[in-house]
Amino acid sequence: MGFSDDDFNDEELREFLADVFSRTGYDFSQYSVSSVKRRIARIIETEGLTSLRQLWSKLLTQKSFETMFVESLSVPTTAMFRDPEVFKFLREQVLPQLVDVPLLRVWSAGCSTGEEAYSLAILLTEAGLYDRSRIYATDINEEFLNKARTGVFPIRLMTDYIVNYLESGGSEEFSSYYTSAYDRVLFTDKLKRNIVFAHHNLAIDTSFNEFTLVFCRNVLIYFNQDLQEKVHKLIEGSLVSGGYLVLGEKESLPRSTARGAYKQLSKPFKVYQRTY
Ligand SMILES: C[S@@+](CC[C@H](N)C(=O)[O-])C[C@H]1O[C@@H](n2cnc3c(N)ncnc32)[C@H](O)[C@@H]1O
Repeated sequence: MGFSDDDFNDEELREFLADVFSRTGYDFSQYSVSSVKRRIARIIETEGLTSLRQLWSKLLTQKSFETMFVESLSVPTTAMFRDPEVFKFLREQVLPQLVDVPLLRVWSAGCSTGEEAYSLAILLTEAGLYDRSRIYATDINEEFLNKARTGVFPIRLMTDYIVNYLESGGSEEFSSYYTSAYDRVLFTDKLKRNIVFAHHNLAIDTSFNEFTLVFCRNVLIYFNQDLQEKVHKLIEGSLVSGGYLVLGEKESLPRSTARGAYKQLSKPFKVYQRTY
């Protein structure tokens, strides 16, 4: 019988996460309990362990395991032009509003392995805005960031990415954005040049710039209500007046958001404009 998330209770999890925080500085205490529990149970099982206590001993004795552990609590799932209709909406309705912005700062918060940032670079290129854009793509997970920085992706993913690109209203030759060799593609330096990948933990780090466009998609779903509200305050403090916020399909603004602080541009898209 394998280990399952029923094998420890919420109180044990809470104490364990407090210990993890004091040892590693990573605070998972406000991540959604069910998601963290499931992930921890999976790690215990794949490591051949039988309890949280054994997991804690392994964390204490093996530094390399600590990194692996922290990273396996993050969920990498992503894709280029994920939810292509949102990119289409941005392409058609939002980017034309930004033609007069002298320096366009864009933040991809929780960027995973970089697909979102490269999609934004393509979108901005095609809108004629990329030369004066900077994309700051951040994540808690160093391993994802290192992958993102290489700009190298498996060629097999391109079939889906091209479909998404076309559905997003793209009409260029998608393969002109990369060179391919064997089973990989490498995005061009031209596309990479205005993207900065950096470590940033939404749970504890502060705002680091002012942005005209913030993407924070499919990250907040893993946080509890308090942490979601905290991150929303951080985003609000990082958006210029009139700036745009894009959330994931299943995400929305928290109830605590001041009335009238944002307007949703067009339902069902989770694209909001800051009104003040
Ligand atoms: C499911 S991916 C979403 C990727 C991309 N935004 C998208 O929608 O395709 C969630 C990402 O959030 C990152 N993440 C989780 N907790 C975070 C935190 N506290 N600060 C920054 N990034 C975090 C994970 O490492 C992961 O890369």
